[in-house]
Amino acid sequence: MSEFLDLHGKVAVVTGAASGLGRAVARGLVREGARVVLGDIDKAGLERTARELGDAARWHRTDVARRDDVAALFRVCDEAFGPVEILATCAGIISSAPLAVMTEEEWDRVLAINTKGTFNTLRLAARHLRDGGRIVLDRKNTLVIASGISNGAGGALLADGAAMLQGPLGALPPLLTLERLLFRLIAAAFVLLTCTLATGFAFAETLFGQPLRFDHKTVFALLSWATFALLLAGRHFRGWRGRTALRWTLTGFVMLLLAYVGSRFVMEVLLGRS
Ligand SMILES: NC(=O)c1ccc[n+]([C@@H]2O[C@H](COP(=O)([O-])OP(=O)(O)OC[C@H]3O[C@@H](n4cnc5c(N)ncnc54)[C@H](O)[C@@H]3O)[C@@H](O)[C@H]2O)c1
Repeated sequence: MSEFLDLHGKVAVVTGAASGLGRAVARGLVREGARVVLGDIDKAGLERTARELGDAARWHRTDVARRDDVAALFRVCDEAFGPVEILATCAGIISSAPLAVMTEEEWDRVLAINTKGTFNTLRLAARHLRDGGRIVLDRKNTLVIASGISNGAGGALLADGAAMLQGPLGALPPLLTLERLLFRLIAAAFVLLTCTLATGFAFAETLFGQPLRFDHKTVFALLSWATFALLLAGRHFRGWRGRTALRWTLTGFVMLLLAYVGSRFVMEVLLGRS
């Protein structure tokens, strides 16, 4: 089980779970410890996926274009495992008919499944979602995580889900790319911090006319350096990411902040001197 996705005990609903992306997502969720409720129009495929996933999975034959089917899917989830916390909407179809000959019925069918089906699923999920749940939308082969959606505010946010993805969120690179960029920045900043500390130690006397003092600035700067060193080592050797990486990054940042601007805070709050 990876550090990033510790989904032990989480409850997920996956549509389109009889094959392709949905099936792969369901497998991945169970591998990371979640329990899943599978929905798809293809009953035989659903049974196959559910058999493979064993006790961690339940299924309900669902046509996502039909609101009642989707409502029943979430009821199965409530009864089997409790309120949904993670949702992956992978049900969908591609029409290969060329535009010039595509019938209106075909157009309506695609929209009914891909657009209205996703709307049905998101809207009902918002009603059943446990506070702090996550919505995972399949968007052209990219998984986008919309967080901070809770039962209370969920309705409004989710109803606007498609627009939200077209807006600022849609303009962002994938999360994993952002994470890689963050670590590159941290690595570059770590090299600079190392140079700063090394030159400070080496040339303090030349620059300031006195040897390096071990005051709170030096101590916090060293603690910050050690925190970032451990973070980069953890990333390299143990694949740290997600919340673990965030905690270490923020800790290192706060240490550095205290080293630079924290004289008063350290004297008055930490050391109790005025
Ligand atoms: N795989 C890709 O590279 C890719 C790329 C871009 C977009 N997509 C889109 O992602 C979605 C999933 O792709 P995939 O490769 O897993 O396709 P897939 O055909 O393997 O899986 C789609 C699943 O959705 C189910 N489904 C179809 N109509 C349904 C309905 N009305 N209600 C419930 N389930 C229904 C199908 O039975 C199937 O199991 C599709 O919408 C696809 O267009 C996929």
